[in-house]
Amino acid sequence: MENEVSNLVKQGSFWLPESASTVSSNVDKLYYAIAWGSTLIFLFMLAVGLYFLYAYRRKNKDQMAEKQITHNNVIELAWTVIPLIIVMGIFWWGYTDYLKLMIPPSDAQEIRVTGKKWLWQFEYPKDGIKTLNEIVVPVNKPIKLVMSSEDVIHSFFIPNFRVKKDVIPNRYSRIWFQAEKEGVYQIFCTEFCGDGHSGMLATLKVVSEEAYQDWLKAGSGSDDIPLLALGEKVYKAKACNTCHSIDGTPLTGPSWKGIYGKKHTGQDGKTRLVDDNYIRESVTNPAAFVVQGFPPVMPTYAGLLSDREIDAIIEFIKEQK
Ligand code: CUA
Repeated sequence: MENEVSNLVKQGSFWLPESASTVSSNVDKLYYAIAWGSTLIFLFMLAVGLYFLYAYRRKNKDQMAEKQITHNNVIELAWTVIPLIIVMGIFWWGYTDYLKLMIPPSDAQEIRVTGKKWLWQFEYPKDGIKTLNEIVVPVNKPIKLVMSSEDVIHSFFIPNFRVKKDVIPNRYSRIWFQAEKEGVYQIFCTEFCGDGHSGMLATLKVVSEEAYQDWLKAGSGSDDIPLLALGEKVYKAKACNTCHSIDGTPLTGPSWKGIYGKKHTGQDGKTRLVDDNYIRESVTNPAAFVVQGFPPVMPTYAGLLSDREIDAIIEFIKEQK
């Protein structure tokens, strides 16, 4: 999956990644118009400046300075009115595109997005499906994301679609897009939100209508993978790896290396054996026992992982010797 994402990142131009939604090409046109327009104006100013430098240089040693010129109505009006017309044109162009970006079509399918330290949770209200760090949507259908945060300010960004918006606690923000090309797209958090910010990633899969219907029917579809392999998948896909290393490095949370069967010391100095029940409790009710030296910041995964996925995580931790 990571390879599919990087292939898409490689496409596109030097300036911008591949444009893949119905409104992203509008954003690109405006961006290039402003960027190249500014470059032309800059080169024009530079040329005029260099010409004046040469044309009005001091030509002999005792040349007197020109007397002060107060103003020139024609030139001053021209350099006021022409830029005004240009910037009002850019405003009109930008504002009409902004409205297209901000107002979702009335038939857009809704998906709810919750940002929290440090993962993205998605819920399909009509289909009862919840996912972590992965959304699947059909191609050529308008999708509306209704977003809020459970803790600090995050920001939801899909570069290929040119949509980005802050995700804020106690308020809903929304974006919409209609994907034009099937593929796997990278989603970033673009608001610095703490230790795990750079790992707060998700992927967007755009699939055909049939594949989407199959995906909805299959649910999370994790039943046929062996537990250990599923555990490794969950470790990465559900963002455990943002805070828990498997090489012994302490991150925001304790490393998983060699913890199974050992004892963890809590904030109050009491110890607990790291066994199956301890891991299960830590996943579903992380505040119940916080390991000494670590902040109590882990979100609960209750209702977000199936029992089988929790079993898989336990097997995966056992393997980290
Ligand atoms: Cu969430 Cu950065």
